[in-house]
Amino acid sequence: MEFNLKGKVAVVTGGGRGIGEAICFAFANEGTHIVVSDIDYASAQAVAERIRSIGPKAIPVEADVARQDHAAKLISTAIGELGGIDCLVNNAGISPKNAEGGPAMTWEIGVDEWDRVMGINLKGSLFCSQEAVKYMISKKAGAIVNIASIAGKAPFEPMATGAHYDASKAAIINLTQRLASEVAEYGIRVNAVAPGRIASPMAKFASQRLNQAMLERTPMGRFGTPEEIAKVVVFLASDGASYVTGETVNVNGGWIMD
Ligand SMILES: NC(=O)c1ccc[n+]([C@@H]2O[C@H](COP(=O)([O-])OP(=O)(O)OC[C@H]3O[C@@H](n4cnc5c(N)ncnc54)[C@H](O)[C@@H]3O)[C@@H](O)[C@H]2O)c1
Repeated sequence: MEFNLKGKVAVVTGGGRGIGEAICFAFANEGTHIVVSDIDYASAQAVAERIRSIGPKAIPVEADVARQDHAAKLISTAIGELGGIDCLVNNAGISPKNAEGGPAMTWEIGVDEWDRVMGINLKGSLFCSQEAVKYMISKKAGAIVNIASIAGKAPFEPMATGAHYDASKAAIINLTQRLASEVAEYGIRVNAVAPGRIASPMAKFASQRLNQAMLERTPMGRFGTPEEIAKVVVFLASDGASYVTGETVNVNGGWIMD
């Protein structure tokens, strides 16, 4: 299949580790130049350096996606230093756990914690998309892929996530559809991926009990890998998915089929 991503530019938020890091390398393997963005600059720098060593251009950018000014600077850096932005992947996210590796109960979540999770997971995707889409509209081309979650569809045990996380991911699925419907006429596609439990640093903080229960509910009997998410993200960002928009693709070993 012709992905047609060679020489294009992708911006990946939360690209310093885990699923975001795998997404950066999956793009790099297609010859795509990458802006590796993370709140943790050292990790973004390390990923960018490794990408450059295999060929494509890669620049690290420190950005807290919850801040609108950082999102604006991130996208303008991509345009200024790499000549444009063809693909945006809104991957940065957090999933706070309690001391036992489980979720806070809904009634325990303080307003500051609610706002922190919404700020990064939902507003972060909104801010970066707003900035990227303005440029993409001027070019009449582009693709955005949002990282949602199975938790946006099944907000209950054995998910190790809380109501703030689940609501942020459900909202991302909705935002994906809304934005997709608004920008389709400009040749821009917006899709999402809803991962199940993926063996990334984030999943390691979940309790043994919840991880075991997730495994038992997963028909494929194992967790996914960051690379298995990355492949679907790159497909959705590519010309291989040229007639796919507003879609949220489950990548969850069969946990939810809808
Ligand atoms: N791991 C899973 O089981 C799983 C399942 C479903 C969805 N997801 C989603 O996949 C995405 C990536 O998750 P992961 O498992 O790789 O997590 P991770 O914690 O391993 O990595 C997240 C990355 O995002 C960065 N980040 C955190 N806050 C940020 C901010 N404010 N601004 C910019 N970057 C920030 C971190 O520094 C880190 O590099 C998240 O959106 C997460 O919700 C993960």
